[in-house]
Amino acid sequence: MKESIISVHDLKKSYGKHTVLDGLNFEVECGSIFALLGENGAGKTTTVRILSTLIQADSGIAAIAGYDTHRESESVKQKISLTGQYASVDELLTGEENLMMMGRLNHLSRHLVKKRTAELLEQFELTNAAKKQVKTYSGGMRRRLDIAISLLASPKVIFLDEPTTGLDPRSRKNMWNLIQQLAKDGVTIFLTTQYLEEADQLADKIAVIDNGKIVEEGTAEELKCMIGEEKLELTFNDLYAFQNAQELIQGQVHDNERRISIHTGSTESLRQLLNTLHEHGIEPSTVTFRKPTLDDVFMDITSRKRKEHSANA
Ligand SMILES: Nc1ncnc2c1ncn2[C@@H]1O[C@H](COP(=O)(O)OP(=O)(O)O)[C@@H](O)[C@H]1O
Ligand SMILES: [Mg+2]
Repeated sequence: MKESIISVHDLKKSYGKHTVLDGLNFEVECGSIFALLGENGAGKTTTVRILSTLIQADSGIAAIAGYDTHRESESVKQKISLTGQYASVDELLTGEENLMMMGRLNHLSRHLVKKRTAELLEQFELTNAAKKQVKTYSGGMRRRLDIAISLLASPKVIFLDEPTTGLDPRSRKNMWNLIQQLAKDGVTIFLTTQYLEEADQLADKIAVIDNGKIVEEGTAEELKCMIGEEKLELTFNDLYAFQNAQELIQGQVHDNERRISIHTGSTESLRQLLNTLHEHGIEPSTVTFRKPTLDDVFMDITSRKRKEHSANA
């Protein structure tokens, strides 16, 4: 394993009685794209805010490049993006003016600010819009300006908290390209997302957060492998057949689509399964094989954890 640049150990955070982070552990490799994947309210932003020194954890360790985010926050700040989602872009200024202003506010020299502004406008395809007021920008352009600002001081680590939420598909694709480009330039990217597809497309490593804990971690491929190879999928037009089939076979039931997904074992067990259905006079409408997607993984992990949770309660 390469050197890790972010280390999180047994990190805990509660608001009153509400436990948000319940002992997080993970490492992020230098120069990689790491995705923290979780549903709304899972604790993604809380994690980002602790790592970027904006709030303090109750206990545990969060370190960037070996510096503790609480005790050595000044050193951490020099390694990370200046603004992230907290960029206060001024609507009335132009894109260029915003970059210049933020550069000066962050004590970069006049010469460096000018140079970085021109580079970033170019890199983020904002050169043509540089002299236009930000209030005329599209959602995608604003996000790009936001990230450009956060890159002014050439940070080692950049936090992108749900960078594509609310963007149209084309702007989302552009943002993905841009994130990949940043990673090529050697920046470590800590991304949070609710979209499995996004994590699948971008991340070298994915950590799934649920109920304040990392419930699974690995590459997209590793996560997909975890739940096995191909799945057999049976669908039923007939409700009665669908209900009876559920009694006879072990599988994941998708009520809305009247579909049952089954992990395929040997050819023999597959034959037995179809025979059993046939003997009971149940004929599926369709029988197909499907490779697992990250969605399957997510469903699998979260439903398994929920079951454990209710069993322990
Ligand atoms: N300042 C706060 N005070 C009280 N509760 C908070 C605060 N910030 C976040 N929370 C709660 O913590 C949980 C996780 O929030 P957050 O980290 O924003 O989740 P995510 O970014 O994954 O959607 C939510 O239930 C949220 O309501
Ligand atoms: Mg959030």
